Amino acid sequence: MIRIVASMLTADLADLGGEVRRLEAAGIDGIHWDVMDGIAVPSLTFGPAVIASARPHATVPFEAHLMIRDPDDLIERVAAAGCTTALVHPDMLSHPWRTCERIREAGMRVGVTLSPGIPLEDARWLLPLTDVLMIMTVEPGFGGQAYLTAMEAKVAEARRLLDGFEGEWELEIDGGVGPGTIAGAHGAGARTFVVGSALWRAGSFGEALEACRAACAD
Ligand code: DX5
Ligand code: ZN
Repeated sequence: MIRIVASMLTADLADLGGEVRRLEAAGIDGIHWDVMDGIAVPSLTFGPAVIASARPHATVPFEAHLMIRDPDDLIERVAAAGCTTALVHPDMLSHPWRTCERIREAGMRVGVTLSPGIPLEDARWLLPLTDVLMIMTVEPGFGGQAYLTAMEAKVAEARRLLDGFEGEWELEIDGGVGPGTIAGAHGAGARTFVVGSALWRAGSFGEALEACRAACAD
């Protein structure tokens, strides 16, 4: 069973309500909000107020990918905006354990996210607080980048690491995922996929989702 969540970076930002409605109608499993501060990563995107504006237009889960230096003060507002998962990067945090605790205290699932150059070891001691381990298959900061096939070895290593422990973790990948790349990551052990530009590049959201699901079924 796989889950596909839509990154909204490539969406029509002037019609986010319509976009999430259409994505849900097409069968998306969740909405992935790339919250960027222009400091931890080069881009500046949207925050809790924008997420909250889209919340009434869909029933699927919202997750916030926080590419922010020390996002602690935003966590409560991201939860209040209707997100049920917050994904953070340990290398962007002064106190990773504490930030993950605050995400839990806000009633959200904790996602620990590793950029391409960050070792799996950086997630190891956060696993007791982790619900989702997300492996970036692009350098964070922009949509529409090329998928890094080299990260499939890291996904496979993450799968082995997680299978070595008691407990259930969602293994997610993010960046450059589409019908032509998803099979490799699925084969390496990922089961949740963030798809952004590939959804808007296809003839329709349904077509892109169907192609991604078929590529994983093969
Ligand atoms: C990149 C973001 C990703 C990205 C996914 O920093 O975290 O979520 O926008 O979009 P695509 O699928 O276009 O790479
Ligand atoms: Zn993302």
